[in-house]
Amino acid sequence: MAQKLQSGAIDRLSEFLLPGNLLWTCDPVIIKQLFTLPNVQVPVKMLKLYDIWGPTIGSVEGEEWKTHRKVVTYGLNPSTQLSVWKESIHQTRTLIDRWADDGSVLTVAKYWTSRLALHVIASIFFDMKLDWREYTAQDKASNLLSECGCRISFESALFTVLARMGLIFMVPRFLLRTLPFKACQEAHIALTDWTKYMQNLRQKAAEKIDRLATKKGKTILESIVLAGTPTSSSPNTRPLSEESMLGNIWFTLMAGHETAGNTLAFALLLLAIYPEHQLAIQKQLDAQLGSRPSDEWSMEQDFPALQKGHLGAVLKEVLRTYNVIQFFFRLVAAATTMVDSSGQKHDVPTNTLCALNYAAAFQNPATWAPKNVSEARRAELHHSPAIDFDPSRWLDESVKDEDLIFFPFGNGPRKCPGMPFAQVEMVAVLATLFKECSLELMVTEDLVQTCNGDRNMAWEKTRDEAIRRMKDDVGANLTIQMLKELPILLLKRK
Ligand code: HEM
Repeated sequence: MAQKLQSGAIDRLSEFLLPGNLLWTCDPVIIKQLFTLPNVQVPVKMLKLYDIWGPTIGSVEGEEWKTHRKVVTYGLNPSTQLSVWKESIHQTRTLIDRWADDGSVLTVAKYWTSRLALHVIASIFFDMKLDWREYTAQDKASNLLSECGCRISFESALFTVLARMGLIFMVPRFLLRTLPFKACQEAHIALTDWTKYMQNLRQKAAEKIDRLATKKGKTILESIVLAGTPTSSSPNTRPLSEESMLGNIWFTLMAGHETAGNTLAFALLLLAIYPEHQLAIQKQLDAQLGSRPSDEWSMEQDFPALQKGHLGAVLKEVLRTYNVIQFFFRLVAAATTMVDSSGQKHDVPTNTLCALNYAAAFQNPATWAPKNVSEARRAELHHSPAIDFDPSRWLDESVKDEDLIFFPFGNGPRKCPGMPFAQVEMVAVLATLFKECSLELMVTEDLVQTCNGDRNMAWEKTRDEAIRRMKDDVGANLTIQMLKELPILLLKRK
């Protein structure tokens, strides 16, 4: 039995291990070619991990990919951005109140920002309104819970599937259900319930399929379901299979909330470590938004203005220092010659798997000037990427050709279709939060006493420790994330 299990797992692993050479690169010029050359593809076998339900936009190539891409981008069309702006402001406003009820301490920022991103996406994609109440017998969410016959909430199901992706991929379904391990049981329940939630969403959209066919401005759910469900005027086979409908609902939700949620968490922590950048953002917010209430903030005028100034610079610098996706993979499908940034040519043979190392490309000191910090001090701070967090580099007019060296949302035909969504969302969240509040690292009274009552010294020590934690405690699942506790205090601005 044990032997059978082991060989099953090895079969699954070997399915996506590819023959051929491995190329690692952090050279932006090579990375750009890997994103755009026609004979370079995504390694679909490796990406089977995402295909829990069926093939998705992220795991297919060629004509099949074009079909998926068309469906997904239709649902992410620019008309959704105003709703993203309004929902992000609404969710952040209500979250501030929720934090206040909890004593205004954010123990794990990611816990909240992931949910915030999920709430925004659920509203835009599915017209599903999630709020900050816990799931009780009385609220809307638990109606959904019983309507779908689920044991756990929509959010718990999604977060558990995400956390247990490796297990779900490696362990056959019947074993996941029967093995007596807590992790397997959790994964099985989450997988079953999450499938029911998605089927319920699909079913509701499918019930009004004829109306959807002529509706302008479809949500992403509607666009996906329409691509997989026959209508009266088009009763024949549709471009997406049933499995791919569920697969794409899952993939877009995962790609959209995991990335933006984790980026926002890094932003909050970095801004708590560097309060001078909070002050600069607040100065910009006061000048731009004055005393207008948040429902009068305009997506057309305020968003681009905020993005151009200090707030936009902070977001870029967060994506540079803590780009949540640290690696991408590409496969060279036919031998090709590439030229690196020093002009040297390289012949790359067929079947070369290429690892595009974003983390290194965005922190290369030859491209991104490090701060003037001594080697000894860097060692003391565990060489944390937080040391070189410097948003002002983006306000310097001399940063030209940014596109050539900085591409957090990818490049070429597979460039992130959710980029405008993410940018509007992240600007709206930070604007709402910092217009009303400030964040502070928590300095404990014990530490103040150890520093003989010197609060400044205690703060400096707390900050140093936070910078170290931003290296030592950053973990990786599909994206990098700060899962461990690093408490920050929310203070209302005077
Ligand atoms: C901070 C936020 C985000 C970052 C850093 C990010 C980054 C990326 C990158 C680098 C890619 C390209 C992958 C490749 O070339 O293989 C990508 C693809 C993708 N992203 Fe995003 N993304 C973010 C937010 C979003 C959001 C909010 C959505 C949806 C609402 C989204 C949906 C997608 C989808 C569907 C793809 C696959 C595109 C394809 O394969 O054609 N992303 N993302």
